[in-house]
Amino acid sequence: MIPEQFSALDEAITRIRNGRLSRRSFLERTLAIGLSSGAAVSLLEACGGNSNSSGGNGAATNLIWISEQDQSGTYQMLVDTFNKTIGQQKGLHVTYQSGPAKTDDLLTQYTNMLRARNASVDVLSIDIIYPAQFAASQWTVAISDTQWPAAERAKFLPGPIKGCTYQNQLWAAPLRTDLGLLYYRKDLLPNPPKTWDELNSLATATAPSKIKYGYVWQGAQYEGLVCDFVEVLYGYNGTILDPNDPSKVTINSPEARQALTRMVSWVGTISPEAVTTYQEDPARQVWQNGNAALMRNWPYAYALSSDPKQSQIVGKFDISAMPYGGSGTVGHSAIGGWNLAINAFSKKADACWEFIHYMLQDDAQKQLAIKGTFTPTLQSIYTDNDVLAKQPLFGKLGPILKNGLPRPVSPKYSDISDILQRYIHQALKKQISVDTALSSLETELKKALAS
Ligand code: GLC
Repeated sequence: MIPEQFSALDEAITRIRNGRLSRRSFLERTLAIGLSSGAAVSLLEACGGNSNSSGGNGAATNLIWISEQDQSGTYQMLVDTFNKTIGQQKGLHVTYQSGPAKTDDLLTQYTNMLRARNASVDVLSIDIIYPAQFAASQWTVAISDTQWPAAERAKFLPGPIKGCTYQNQLWAAPLRTDLGLLYYRKDLLPNPPKTWDELNSLATATAPSKIKYGYVWQGAQYEGLVCDFVEVLYGYNGTILDPNDPSKVTINSPEARQALTRMVSWVGTISPEAVTTYQEDPARQVWQNGNAALMRNWPYAYALSSDPKQSQIVGKFDISAMPYGGSGTVGHSAIGGWNLAINAFSKKADACWEFIHYMLQDDAQKQLAIKGTFTPTLQSIYTDNDVLAKQPLFGKLGPILKNGLPRPVSPKYSDISDILQRYIHQALKKQISVDTALSSLETELKKALAS
């Protein structure tokens, strides 16, 4: 939904509560805005548009939550449970909307809304790369120690908590983390590759003789490409900024040359030419249709690739750590993740926190793991027997999580990312050489950091 649609939704809610809109018109309008029929009916009930509804006196506080795209149905399921339990008890109702596939598009949507000081969305899912930027712009509400006591926070993974912290204050609650994984077809490859050299050999040995493509990944010009690039770069022991002094640009290095040369070499050989247009989902479609021996993707692809209704490769694949190369000895996943923040312009901050807090509890965190194969932030989930029995990948994530590394951490992250996306993509498309890409990256990143 775009901000205008959220405003239209807000208006429909206000009108039905004031008795100025019939049930039928409310449903027509909300469906036209893009809500599913289930969400429209449950919102109608919460607004008092159904005389049988127990919360139907018009007293419910309605919240709108927009998230990154969720195709597993996990978020909607959790919202439904919240609405039927705590929501009923406390007079709250959450309307959920799954957002666009690209985090870059969600950022644009938020930026437009928040610059206009608009509160048409109350709870915002924000990517782990943005809390500093949102906090510095005063777009989100700080989460206090009283709301979320230190003893409770200590049960969560420290990395995502750090990612939501800016100037010693928490600006979002870490809902789930994310980490790049190497998916491989265990029916075709006896063992997953440990190094990029091995990956090349295995991909070449299987494709195209046994399967259409060797390796699919995210090569389109967008945020996902930055994640794929840093994973190869970090595996070669390269960096973008000096970890001890992030004001220094270190991208123009022999390690980065090895990493980018490696990626460029995949296009049109072990990977299809079209990989330079792939985001997560197109790569997953090729993989799920049984057309790739190896894939780089996030954990969400595990649940969807295990779903017989949509996948041709159920039971035929497994996951492993990202490979390494050069003088590297261990692979590194890029750390991703999504966090729940309260829109600073919303007048319903306390109600938002009620919902966010529910999403941090054991039950919700466990469902994230079981239904969506999202990697939760609550640490106990990784040793929960029920989770391990239902989603065996959780037994393998410990060392992968430990070796995960963030993208550059900076309030100027959007600028840094735009520059990386542009030059890496041009190199992949062979429009510029690897050397030109790295020297341009050095110059442009230095400029961006100095501005
Ligand atoms: C995933 C990650 C997020 C990342 C995005 C890139 O959603 O969780 O951190 O920015 O992918 O496409």
